[in-house]
Amino acid sequence: MRKKDLSLTGNERTLDPDDLIVTKTDLSGKIRYGNRTFYKFAGYGPSECIGVQHNIIRHPEMPRTVFKLLWDTLKAGNEIFAYVNNRSRNGDHYWVLAHVTPSWSETGEIIGYHSNRRAPNRAVIREHIDPLYATLMKIESSSASPKDALAAGEKHVHDLLASKGMSFNELMFALGV
Ligand SMILES: Cc1cc2nc3c(=O)[nH]c(=O)nc-3n(C[C@H](O)[C@H](O)[C@H](O)COP(=O)(O)O)c2cc1C
Repeated sequence: MRKKDLSLTGNERTLDPDDLIVTKTDLSGKIRYGNRTFYKFAGYGPSECIGVQHNIIRHPEMPRTVFKLLWDTLKAGNEIFAYVNNRSRNGDHYWVLAHVTPSWSETGEIIGYHSNRRAPNRAVIREHIDPLYATLMKIESSSASPKDALAAGEKHVHDLLASKGMSFNELMFALGV
């Protein structure tokens, strides 16, 4: 995709409790559908998003490890709940709690992916997600290569989950979604 200006305003947009942001993608993560609330928060129109990779709203302070976990989970045919910070077109940001899941054909094949997001629990972000993601960003940036960065980030998440005896989704629910 085109190189983007990833400047940030520091201004946070917040979802109302009844806001639901929906997108659907193809198998490669290209957006096939967005609802009105998605375009409102993203700041882009449908013609700018349809057929474009979902990283169009990627926030530069989101750890790569989280997206690796997301894609590994989806490709294995499973669903994931994750806190995601997104970047609006003008550099504002908005936190969501995302549920992302494969879409299945009648014959049991994955034909795309689907995500619903709603307003996240602020206290969980402040107390747990911000520190976790900051740690992952630090681990990733201090690694020798992009490959090492993901391996080290994954190890951190794996060790954290092992210490709690939980899966990633279980941890998200235990924190309070
Ligand atoms: C259904 C679906 C929804 C997604 N939603 C988002 C999203 O809201 N924000 C985001 O940054 N990435 C989202 N992703 C992940 C992106 O495809 C991508 O992995 C991520 O933005 C990291 O981009 P990068 O690989 O360029 O670093 C989604 C992926 C899928 C399959």
